[in-house]
Amino acid sequence: MNITQRYEKVKQLLAEYNQSHLLTFWSKLNEKQKLSLLSQIEQIDFDQLKEKINTYIKNYATAELPEKISAAPAYPAIPKTREQKEKYTKAKQLGAELISAGKVAPFIVAGGQGTRLGFDGPKGDFAISPVKNKTLFRLFAETIKAAGQKYGFQPVWYVMTSPLNHSQTTEIFERDNYYGLDKSSVFVFQQGTEVNFSPDGKILLAAKYELATSPDGHGGSLKALYKSGAVEDMKNRGIEYISYFQVDNPLTNIFDPLFIGLHALDKAQMSSKALTKTGPFERVGNFCLANGKVTIIEYSDLPDELAEKKTKEGLLVFSLGSIAIHMITRTFVEQLNNEGFALPYHRANKKISYIDLQTGKKIEPTKPNGIKLETFVFDALPLTDKSIILETIRSEEFAPVKNAIGTDSPQVTKKMMVARAAAWLTQAGIKIPQKPDNSPDCKIEIAPSFAICPQDVQKKKDKVEPVNPGDMVCLT
Ligand code: UD1
Repeated sequence: MNITQRYEKVKQLLAEYNQSHLLTFWSKLNEKQKLSLLSQIEQIDFDQLKEKINTYIKNYATAELPEKISAAPAYPAIPKTREQKEKYTKAKQLGAELISAGKVAPFIVAGGQGTRLGFDGPKGDFAISPVKNKTLFRLFAETIKAAGQKYGFQPVWYVMTSPLNHSQTTEIFERDNYYGLDKSSVFVFQQGTEVNFSPDGKILLAAKYELATSPDGHGGSLKALYKSGAVEDMKNRGIEYISYFQVDNPLTNIFDPLFIGLHALDKAQMSSKALTKTGPFERVGNFCLANGKVTIIEYSDLPDELAEKKTKEGLLVFSLGSIAIHMITRTFVEQLNNEGFALPYHRANKKISYIDLQTGKKIEPTKPNGIKLETFVFDALPLTDKSIILETIRSEEFAPVKNAIGTDSPQVTKKMMVARAAAWLTQAGIKIPQKPDNSPDCKIEIAPSFAICPQDVQKKKDKVEPVNPGDMVCLT
């Protein structure tokens, strides 16, 4: 089809879907701009557009709550019964075997904007380690490398970016020499985008020849893993399990034999790690059973009366929060994509800069003027036949850096990193100086090359020099 034919086809389609305004500036565009605009419009999924606008833009109230909802069962962090103890032992052994056999691959979702932290650049490049100031990406990469050495396999790291930060992220990886990993063992790919709307269901123009778009949410990873060829690559390399994690949590236990083993033993398709919430309104997803399926309801979607609901014993009914860590079986991602699947959209009212159709000028709004649609990866949980939850211990595995100050800020995360390092050393019998409030009176960092779990510290305890009050120590 030549450009005129494509234009005519697009024009007709847009008229049918009430989006003709997207061609307002057509006559003023040069050939290159015209071609670019045409291909962007051609990529819109018109089959879905009407329903999307009606359901999520024009008539959206709040996310619908499932009819029957109850607490979700979870494996406890520490096994309670003899049966459980036996199962955990078996799971840990199986998990370690799967890691050693190269069947588990780390997968980070790093396509978000990280606006709350106020950091200019991909969040993975944020320096967080308390002594050496290592970035999040570096800590993850070093952990992955150390796991490869410990378990004797060649890890492959899958990294999802978005059009917002893809080139910056790849430049950072290049600049930092892939943090000592083999470049061929880092598979970077981009997630998809969604067009942005005005509240009356019109797609916004970011420029005269460009649609306003934003990343399609971490739920987009399930499609992007497939479309990018990452899943095919995993298959070729014999990888069966995807260890999914977010960019913001430096305490992530990327290769957890227990979690991997339980997921595999139970033949689950997508599993999750949970922790006991600090209170009813902690800003984490809430685990529940909805119509019999493990489901996560985001904190913003859980009504207060359910968030505060208590058991007879006075405990929160929905006490388990999500730390956004999942084990996903590769064939589940293949199955979803082969069968065709759609995750529900979540909408966010945002400030979106746009071109005024009358004047052709770019407007930078000062208050929310448009709508972005995203999907969430955890909405795939109810699509599984089997999904397990493993409870974990906050101080061991969850210190996300999300806000510039206060809760989940760098200051808190660093403190928690030091506290975990001190706890691992104390468990190994090494004396750590303490302040009157029992917090460590020193700054300690354990590099992944030294230890990725407490048992590693135990094995190397003889190499640790005595730690004195006020010391700054990095064990490498
Ligand atoms: C998230 C979870 C919440 C969980 C908490 C744990 C959501 C909606 N909520 O909250 O249930 O309890 O973490 O810390 O996810 N990302 C992309 N592409 C996108 C959007 C996000 O890759 O289009 C990535 C980000 O880079 C980040 C992760 O997804 O690694 C989480 O995104 P963010 O928006 O920061 O989620 P939270 O609100 O912190």
